[in-house]
Amino acid sequence: MRKIDIFDTTLRDGEQSAGINLNTAEKIEIAKQLERLGVTIIEAGFPASSPGDFDAVHRIAGTVKNSIVTGLARCIQKDIDTTWEAIKVAQQPHIHIFLATSPIHMEYKLKKTPDQVVEQAVEAVKYAKKFFPLVQWSAEDAFRSDHEFLVRIMNEVVAAGATTINVPDTVGYASPEEYGALFKFLLENVKGAEKVKFSAHCHNDLGMATANTIAAIENGAAQVEGTINGIGERAGNVALEEIAVALHIRKDLYHVETGIQLQEIKRTSQLVSKLTNVVIQPNKAIVGKNAFAHESGIHQDGVLKNPETYEIISPALIGEGEIPLVLGKHSGRAAFRDRAETMGFHLSEEKLNKAFVEFKKLADRKKEITEEDLLTLLTEQQVQIEDVPLFDLKMVQVQYGTENIPTATAIVLTPERLEKTVVATGSGSVEAIFNTLEQLVPGAVHVIDYRVSSVGKGRDALGEAVINIRYDDVSTTGRNSSQDVLEASAKAYLNAINRHLIKASLRAQPV
Ligand code: KIV
Ligand code: ZN
Repeated sequence: MRKIDIFDTTLRDGEQSAGINLNTAEKIEIAKQLERLGVTIIEAGFPASSPGDFDAVHRIAGTVKNSIVTGLARCIQKDIDTTWEAIKVAQQPHIHIFLATSPIHMEYKLKKTPDQVVEQAVEAVKYAKKFFPLVQWSAEDAFRSDHEFLVRIMNEVVAAGATTINVPDTVGYASPEEYGALFKFLLENVKGAEKVKFSAHCHNDLGMATANTIAAIENGAAQVEGTINGIGERAGNVALEEIAVALHIRKDLYHVETGIQLQEIKRTSQLVSKLTNVVIQPNKAIVGKNAFAHESGIHQDGVLKNPETYEIISPALIGEGEIPLVLGKHSGRAAFRDRAETMGFHLSEEKLNKAFVEFKKLADRKKEITEEDLLTLLTEQQVQIEDVPLFDLKMVQVQYGTENIPTATAIVLTPERLEKTVVATGSGSVEAIFNTLEQLVPGAVHVIDYRVSSVGKGRDALGEAVINIRYDDVSTTGRNSSQDVLEASAKAYLNAINRHLIKASLRAQPV
């Protein structure tokens, strides 16, 4: 069967979408899970765009061994140099450089003639080839570009040494028929097309990203790019889990394979959703919580008689409910570690100990520990930032009554390791907590968004709080799960402040 390479851009195109801000520890965690999922290439970020991106790409390039790691760069030497510094530690250094080719982008955004664009692209590919064995060149807004011009510029960049040519539908405008036809045309007309990989990159503005990507594969694409859960700019990128499962379920039709470990899909999807705080729509194909739920009586009856009456995908295929949870309050450290490792968490001794203490506390307070509880607890420990002194909540107490003014008191360990007690009132318990904690930092902290939800089911479920703040003109998201939603809210608020401080210290460092 023909092999299709899966290029994951969750950490670049996905991360650059509104409201998502991942720190380096979270990006490394996602990259490790993408490696377990079996993606061919991980686009870890855009190193020249910020010190934070540089750091994350560099550390991922040094960590991931079984997937190729790449970084995005504009067609300018400074970007290529920075990307080399970030990626050179990787086993197979790969760079992804891009330049827009559509008339509207060339005229208004780049303010360049088509000749100048060809020259810049060729120079950049030649320069990148001095360092990188693998050079991917993207024609940004390729689908809305003049197709003869695409052939001209692709002839030149292939001759200059590009090893992959990416053909993005940057604004999600194509129909499957048109996008497939473009691949056929380019493969037939670009000189040396047989020596390079052609890649599809689809955005979902008209809801056609999956169909367009499949059409590209049917017409010769050897690589497809997308994100987990379809996160990305505007309506997002193509959801890679949809592509992988569609190609598997309909292998009778497509005759291709991807190398994706399908049983890792559910966990990858949950991890990305948790760390990006992007909730998955319940009816989302493959990974939505209702994707395998049967509500109507006729369907339930059919599934009981034979699951295949209404189920074309079995939940186990994507790793849903695969291993029953056997941990409880009497479980020991060895069983806990074993379980964490089965779930793909290889924590340092210190983090494992902390996670185990949290697990025991939870097991004392909660009747049944679920797989989701464990995932939440382990993920929170795994992405915990060490080495940087930050704010730590020692205790929070709220006085509330329908007739009283809600008042919160908190004792917090400051980054200077001093205990500070703060007190304030608010119009509700949560506002009282936020007003209390705001006193820890100079200036106003604006709460842009705040939500609480439960992790799993049941009245004793963990409460998860996610808060988005604007402080010092920068927006930052914080998150925490605790048994009590007020405690989770206080910790999520401090988590946002801590993340802001880390970002500010990274911004102060030169790239
Ligand atoms: O959508 C797009 O055109 C991109 C490029 C940078 C490849 O993401
Ligand atoms: Zn894109």
